[in-house]
Formats: sequence, structure tokens, C-alpha cells
Amino acid sequence: MKIGIDQIGMYTPDFFIDLRELATVRGVAPDKFTIGIGQDQQAVAPSSQDAVTMGAAAAQSLLGAIDREQLGLVVLGTESGVDASKAGALQIIRLLDLPAHVRAMEIKEACYGGTAGLMMARDYVAAHPTKQALVIASDVARYGLATAGEVTQGAGAVAMLVKANPRILVINDDSVVHAEDIGDFWRPVYTDQALARGKYSTEQYLHFFDLVWQQYQAETSLTLNDFTALTFHLPYTKMGLKALRQVLPSVDATKQAALLKHFDQSIQYSRRIGNIYTGSLYLGLLSLLELDHLPAGSRLGLFSYGSGAVGEFFSAELVSGYEQALRPAAHAELLDQRRQLSITEYEAVFNDAVPYAKADYQSNSAYYAGPFVLTGVQGQERQYQVNPNA
Ligand code: HMG
Repeated sequence: MKIGIDQIGMYTPDFFIDLRELATVRGVAPDKFTIGIGQDQQAVAPSSQDAVTMGAAAAQSLLGAIDREQLGLVVLGTESGVDASKAGALQIIRLLDLPAHVRAMEIKEACYGGTAGLMMARDYVAAHPTKQALVIASDVARYGLATAGEVTQGAGAVAMLVKANPRILVINDDSVVHAEDIGDFWRPVYTDQALARGKYSTEQYLHFFDLVWQQYQAETSLTLNDFTALTFHLPYTKMGLKALRQVLPSVDATKQAALLKHFDQSIQYSRRIGNIYTGSLYLGLLSLLELDHLPAGSRLGLFSYGSGAVGEFFSAELVSGYEQALRPAAHAELLDQRRQLSITEYEAVFNDAVPYAKADYQSNSAYYAGPFVLTGVQGQERQYQVNPNA
């Protein structure tokens, strides 16, 4: 049975900053951010947008394709979850009026949570062939103003409908995984800002990629020549390029050029949005599918990495007619109609975060945008609703 992604949608907040401007304000050479890191813009989430509102917005575009009777699993992969107990998938179910006869949960393992959800969905459909699963990967990546990680922040979500005989991508059952307890990146429960051993984390990303890629080749007898394109978790686009460069010497110059060309298409959305943690790999996949027009039957390789850390490499195959199931125009519009913030305004928006405190909180309605908003916190409960300004 062929199982995979039948529908895929994305969402990113309505606000962004230009990273050349940020570089200038931070006293850094702009080329460091645009070439050294490989990012042009960064999505900015006001406090009215979080993993729940963005996840619901990304999934909203798939609603028409969901068979409500057959939907049996709703998974939110996030590492910027807003409650230590309750799954954000439940608020998403309410906001989208999804049926109640579903398993609903939240998965956490840094940026690997989206892949964990996707693989769980794949296994679920394999066991229940008529069923469908909704997998949402949604995050706000925050490191703090003027930190080394600031240039690698971002915000957004990707939602995927997983079922048998999918219209877009068949996910092959050939994963190779590596899990190990390391301290490259983590977020204590009392803060919304992540901590990272930056350089070490990049080394571990490459090390985990090497481990799973070598093992994958040994187990499948496939080589790089068997892949049309590789897509990567993109904490920043240069990171994916470093991983690709690590394996390029195994193929000839023509194949190297082709892989680099496809990689370039896979990073276009991320260059404008930044790291969306759990959804980053799938944002890269979406960018590749919508901008590159690869032939049906193409074999893609996907490398997922979540700090802490888990790495997974697996392959997937493009389904005939997949372009008809994509929405490139809607995604171009989503990106193009965003409002640019000055660095001063971005800093004010960044500092107006939902506090880790018992007091009530009201989010700033001047930044209400998108289909759903967090209006605030009352009696220590987050208040979500349809955006009254939409
Ligand atoms: P840094 O210290 O600011 O940067 O940290 P750097 O000094 O290493 O420079 C970065 C690159 O810019 C270098 O290129 C420089 O040469 C270049 P590289 O050697 O890497 O190829 N550069 C220039 N290029 C052109 N013109 C110039 C110029 N100047 C310098 N003038 C770092 C960078 C990414 C470490 C930092 O931003 C950080 O800590 N980010 C957060 C952690 C992170 O993103 N890690 C990635 C791997 S871990 C991961 O992917 C998981 C994650 O997504 C979380 C999760 O799983 O949940 C993060």
C-alpha cells in the first residue's frame, strides 16, 4: 500500500524583518547574514500568534480535502508548546471544528517532532488503510535579541494530510534513525527562549546526517545518484548547504550541479521565513515542490534533525499529477503581502511576549492578523478565537 502526503499547506505570520537591516543595527556585516547564514528575511510572530494559532491556520487550507468520517489522528509537533500538559492539538480541533472521534496529541522532540508525527501517521494509516491523519508542525523560534541565534529565528507552520494513495508524495518505508542524548540545544520550561551551543549544534547536525546517510546506503544499496533531490531540516539555509556539500563529492560534476540547483529551490521559502523548527524540513519540501516542477516519479531524500538529538533519513516519491494538489499562488501571496517591521518595532513586538506569570495578559490587537488569534491569558488559561479583524 502506498501511503504519504495527500495535501500540504503552510502559514507564517504577517510580519517580517529584513536581515540586512538587522545586521546593520547589530553592527554585523550584512553578507554574514545573507551569505554566511543564508537568510534574507525573518518572520516575526506577535504575541497573538503561537504554535496553536499558526498550526490551525496552516491546517485550515486542507479542510476541504479531509474526509471527516475517516479522520482518526490529529498530531501537533511543536517545541514551542504553550502548556506543559494539554496538547495544542485540542485547541486546533476546536478552532477548525474538526470531529471529536480522533486521537489528538502533541509530540515533542525539538525540530524532529514534525517527522515523528508524520511517521506515526504513516504507521497509523498502514494499520487502518481507510483512515486519514492530520499532522501539523508549528513553532516560533526565539533565541533572544542580540544573541548569536537571533539571525536564525523565525515562525510558521506546515500541515499535512496523510492517507493511502496520496496525491502528492509517497513516503517509503526505508527510514534510518539515530537517537542520542546530547546537549546542543534545549529550552527550559520557565522561558520561551531556546539555549544553544551554536557551533557544537552545527557539528552534531552534520555528524547525525553522516551517520544516518551512511547507514541508509548500507541498508538500501542506494547512492546519491539514485536521488533527484535532497531536502534538509533548515535551521538556517547554510546549514542544509553544508550537509549537502558533505555528500556531493560522491557524484560527478553534472549531478552535483543538479543537486545544488534543486537545493536552491528548496530553500526559497526558508530564506524569507527563517527557522520554523518542527516544520522546517517540510517548508523546504514545499518550496521544492512548488518552485522546482520536478518530474513525477522523482525520488527525494529527506533529512530530519531535532536537537537533543534525533536524526532520520528517509525517501519519498512524487506522485503523477502532484502539481494539481499544490497551492503555489496562495503561498506566494501569503509571503508577498506581509508587512515589514523596522528593527525598533520588531524589538518592541519581541519584548511583548506572553509572560511566564500568573497575571492576566492581553495581546496587542494592532498586530492581529491571520485567521486565528490568541487574545490573551485569563485566569491562567490561554484564550483563542477567530481573528475579529479578519
Ligand atoms: P555565529 O557565531 O554568529 O556565526 O553563529 P559564525 O561566526 O560561525 O559565522 C557564520 C557563517 O558566516 C560562517 O560561515 C562565516 O564564515 C560566515 P561557515 O564557516 O559556517 O560556512 N561569515 C560571512 N560570510 C560572508 N560575509 C561575511 C561573513 N562573516 C562571517 N562578512 C550559529 C552561527 C548558526 C551557530 C548561530 O546563529 C546559532 O547559534 N544559531 C542557533 C543554533 C542553530 O541554528 N544550530 C543549527 C544546528 S542545530 C539544529 O538544526 C536544530 C535546531 O533547529 C533546533 C531544534 O532541533 O529544535 C536549531
